Amino acid sequence: MRSIVLGHTGAEVSALGLGCMYFGTLIDERRSYELLDRYVDVGGSHLDTANNYAHWVPGGAGGESEQVLGRWMRQRGNRDQVFLATKVGFNMPPRVPAGLSRQTIVEQCENSLRQLQTDHIDLYYAHYDDRSTPLEEVLMAFDELVRAGTVRFIGCSNMLAWRIERARGSSRQHGWPEYCCVQQRHTYLRPKTGVVKFSNGHVPATGELLDYATANAEDFVIVAYSALLGGAYVRGRIPDGRQASEYDERDMRARFAALDELAGETGATANQLVLAHLNQGTPPMIALVSSRSHERLQEALDAAALQLTPEQLARLDQASA
Ligand SMILES: NC(=O)c1ccc[n+]([C@@H]2O[C@H](COP(=O)([O-])OP(=O)(O)OC[C@H]3O[C@@H](n4cnc5c(N)ncnc54)[C@H](OP(=O)(O)O)[C@@H]3O)[C@@H](O)[C@H]2O)c1
Repeated sequence: MRSIVLGHTGAEVSALGLGCMYFGTLIDERRSYELLDRYVDVGGSHLDTANNYAHWVPGGAGGESEQVLGRWMRQRGNRDQVFLATKVGFNMPPRVPAGLSRQTIVEQCENSLRQLQTDHIDLYYAHYDDRSTPLEEVLMAFDELVRAGTVRFIGCSNMLAWRIERARGSSRQHGWPEYCCVQQRHTYLRPKTGVVKFSNGHVPATGELLDYATANAEDFVIVAYSALLGGAYVRGRIPDGRQASEYDERDMRARFAALDELAGETGATANQLVLAHLNQGTPPMIALVSSRSHERLQEALDAAALQLTPEQLARLDQASA
């Protein structure tokens, strides 16, 4: 599998990370193991989860995803072959309120380590930008974990470009670890101009963030979540619950047409083109993929073998209403 350097860490990470959000809830344990095994079989090693996945699913309490990963790694004996990313900050009612206080970060890290059955997390994210806690408190807590060896690298998620730069500047000033990446909602279709946060709290990668990541490509990278937009590229429309009204309708039609045209020429599917464009475009970014179906996961993973030419990338970039 193709890999992408994780910013200043120098770590080479699978360009297609496996989104494990619904393991242990919507996706039962047996199927989760099968999907994980398949991902690893094709050379993938980057697993993405969070402490709160997936408490919102009926019957879910939060923590199921980490627990499944912990048991799977224990059973396969492969912790050292896996690059493990998890997150802290969103709420997990009724036990854990939202926030990034030092206490929450330290306690939730211990909890994640226990659930994951490991002694370290490779990439620990602040799941959102908690503006009620000073950035310095958040960064100092991460510094404590990195110095203790329980966390290797830190990243942020759902954070605006100016806040990212402020945090990274503060880290540089104080000698604390720096965010090496941001995990943001991003795909090929574009939100309307001016949308910096979706109604459900997801933060899209804005043009400004793309510019920031391009200018800082030697030490910072974007990890794109919801890259396949819940199957939008197969359905030809944005599915319910994915904030369709916050996307630009005319731009979307032009972009669907560009994908159709290129799919006809290359034989690749629209999903594969979207993922290859994220991995190989400007800036190159890591994309998370997930599906409960073997066939659909395989289709996404096959995108790792698709090489787009500079001309094809430019055509996709330029498609616009
Ligand atoms: N940082 C954050 O705030 C944040 C937020 C959301 C997600 N994430 C991360 O990103 C990962 C992916 O998130 P996501 O679920 O929103 O990703 P997504 O790429 O938008 O959606 C995956 C969904 O697309 C559907 N899909 C994929 N291929 C399809 C096809 N060929 N035809 C029809 N449907 C298809 C899948 O349905 P089936 O399962 O039925 O195939 C699945 O429900 C998560 O697991 C999590 O790790 C992070």
